[in-house]
Amino acid sequence: MTRTPLIAGNWKMNGLQPALEEAKAIAQAADSQDGAEVLLCPPATLLTDLARTLSGSRVKTGGQDCHAEESGAHTGDVSAEMLAGAGADYVIVGHSERRADHGEDDLTVKAKAKAARRAGLTPIICVGEKEAERAKGVHLDVIEMQLDGSTPKNLAGDEVVIAYEPVWAIGTGRTAEPQDIAEMHEFIRTRLRHIMGEEAEGVRILYGGSVKPGNAAEILGIDNVDGALVGGASLKAADFGPIIASAQSE
Ligand code: PGA
Repeated sequence: MTRTPLIAGNWKMNGLQPALEEAKAIAQAADSQDGAEVLLCPPATLLTDLARTLSGSRVKTGGQDCHAEESGAHTGDVSAEMLAGAGADYVIVGHSERRADHGEDDLTVKAKAKAARRAGLTPIICVGEKEAERAKGVHLDVIEMQLDGSTPKNLAGDEVVIAYEPVWAIGTGRTAEPQDIAEMHEFIRTRLRHIMGEEAEGVRILYGGSVKPGNAAEILGIDNVDGALVGGASLKAADFGPIIASAQSE
């Protein structure tokens, strides 16, 4: 089964208007390649402008979170429909920073993933163990629980993306060992078969956590790694460009 790799940039709470210029440079790098699908998830305030800036390029846009409901009295929140209206194709849900900063549990994440589908967006559902959980050897159990709890049933393989991001590797410069990534991604594929049957083969499973130009090719070459979710190194074309290019040589 061939799955087109997805290289997704998560800008987190970074980016003012000048970042649109950087996005143009990223689009140039992306447009000179054709192997991977490329995505930028800016802060909600930049989404409309970014989608306009990138129209005509191969780079798609996504949100970093959405509310489960379509509209209503939820001050400060943004719905999946609003993201779609602003030009998004994807939305990240259940990022570990949302789970930690906003107390989001698996049930909430699943509701957000369903909302994404309702609005025609592809949810990127994030899972990942904490350092203490890996040290205790319960990382597979943690991921199993998060996956089972956060992934809606009855989705086609191309209607959802999973991102495995060990919490201790995010923004730390540390990455999981290749054999640990391989083990986890195979485990996730197997769990997805339980959740969605043969559609699991079409689901792209991204790795995230300190992906950089220097380690991207190795990580993307691991079985069942179908792309990357990149934070810090997606902010500059000089870093993100080479990561996009690494996906070509898979
Ligand atoms: P990082 O972030 O690449 O800066 O580690 C990844 C993420 O949180 O999605």
